[in-house]
Amino acid sequence: MSLIFKRHSVRRFRDEKVPDEIIENLLKAGMQAPSAGNQQAWEFIVVSDDEDKLAISKMHQYAKPAEKASHLIVTLGNLNETRFDMMIEQDLGACNENILLQATHEGLGAVWLGFHPIEDRSLRLKEYLNIPDYCIPFSVICVGYPLGDSEVKLRYDKDKIHIGRY
Ligand SMILES: Cc1cc2nc3c(=O)[nH]c(=O)nc-3n(C[C@H](O)[C@H](O)[C@H](O)COP(=O)(O)O)c2cc1C
Repeated sequence: MSLIFKRHSVRRFRDEKVPDEIIENLLKAGMQAPSAGNQQAWEFIVVSDDEDKLAISKMHQYAKPAEKASHLIVTLGNLNETRFDMMIEQDLGACNENILLQATHEGLGAVWLGFHPIEDRSLRLKEYLNIPDYCIPFSVICVGYPLGDSEVKLRYDKDKIHIGRY
């Protein structure tokens, strides 16, 4: 089975720093994603400071994993760099998934925390990290070495497939 079937969300992390070169591999993977018109309008903020991670973990009720992660990768869409603004969310979705898959490949655990398009969450993140108005604070990806094992459940469901017509 490919990496896709091994990836799953990890929300608990060991107290161990991920080396910078591995974080760079995750960013390389993110930037390798497909994007509309090849616009590549993504940018990233890498956060590893404990105080910052704690603050981000409190930004919404499902953001707790951020506290104990080794690093957070905040993914942004720079609207000054887009040719197709309306496609930026899709570009960033692909970018995020690439980061998650590379994390799996590196033996890391990771979870995608949703921010965009929920206004109050996005605003908190934007203010805290000085993100300019022309950037969408899309998500926060928590990464670190996983604490404990978790099982991957396969989800293939033939009922969701329509052949030829709905
Ligand atoms: C857009 C999006 C937002 C998400 N937001 C959160 C979140 O805020 N907190 C969290 O713990 N998990 C979050 N997740 C992870 C999902 O809960 C998880 O992917 C889903 O339960 C399936 O589990 P799996 O990733 O282990 O396959 C998010 C995932 C996506 C795609």
